[in-house]
Amino acid sequence: MFCVYINEVLLLADGQKIDMMDDKTILQEAFTEMAPRYETLVDGELNRFWGWRYDQFINRLLEEVDIVDGLSVLDVATGTAMIPKKLIGRYGDSIRIVGLDITLAMLRRGKKLLDDPNVRLVCGSAMTMPYGTCSFDVVLCGLATHHMDIPVLISEIRRTLKPGGKLTIADVGGSAVWRMPIVRFFLKVMAFIYFLTVENAARAWAEADGVSNVLCAEDWANLLSQMGFKGVTVVELPSKFKWIPSPLLIKATRGG
Ligand SMILES: C[S@@+](CC[C@H](N)C(=O)[O-])C[C@H]1O[C@@H](n2cnc3c(N)ncnc32)[C@H](O)[C@@H]1O
Repeated sequence: MFCVYINEVLLLADGQKIDMMDDKTILQEAFTEMAPRYETLVDGELNRFWGWRYDQFINRLLEEVDIVDGLSVLDVATGTAMIPKKLIGRYGDSIRIVGLDITLAMLRRGKKLLDDPNVRLVCGSAMTMPYGTCSFDVVLCGLATHHMDIPVLISEIRRTLKPGGKLTIADVGGSAVWRMPIVRFFLKVMAFIYFLTVENAARAWAEADGVSNVLCAEDWANLLSQMGFKGVTVVELPSKFKWIPSPLLIKATRGG
């Protein structure tokens, strides 16, 4: 497990210095390249595929989040900290926010866009979160679950959420037909070719890889219930094209 607080010395949990560049995976390489233009890029992509503006999409996610004074919020895979930025805009310093992300360049841009004492940006993996059990009241995750091993992610979220704590996720969801290996393979190839053409090889690998992780609404509901969440709701958000996987909005409460 590693954990790096940006603007401080890069440290492993055991105190050794690390060189982030040597450790970069293809996903980190893709997001490092995207970081300087992330918001514009994602705005164009969401609009092209779903008919959503980026800003509108984050607002829709946050509409589902009940925040009261004093809560501690974890934004998993925070990227350039757009979710923390919106939360601070709405709730000011009445809440504490941690934004966790594995790509340092995304966090560095986030720090430039939002330098607020109530927001702590942390570089680390959501697969082994650098937090104790029952640390947060609310966990959010926007546009990122498909880049991760979802059962591991949910288990880490469950561990770090307090009992009764709330989880809200918004990300791409597949339809039931995606369960067929041949369909998934075809979509992976399509994603690879598309992102190689419009972006670059690292992005193409990262997005093709992400296709394997995408879950349909029913699988999300089953997984969250099996992993000890209650009051699970999964809503398909409106999308421009029927043949492109739609965005899903997922809400659940951690059981006791
Ligand atoms: C599409 S961006 C989403 C950023 C932000 N949540 C938003 O709504 O704009 C996906 C982010 O997931 C991060 N990410 C991918 N795998 C991760 C992991 N295992 N742990 C933490 N962050 C991860 C990437 O570095 C990237 O910043």
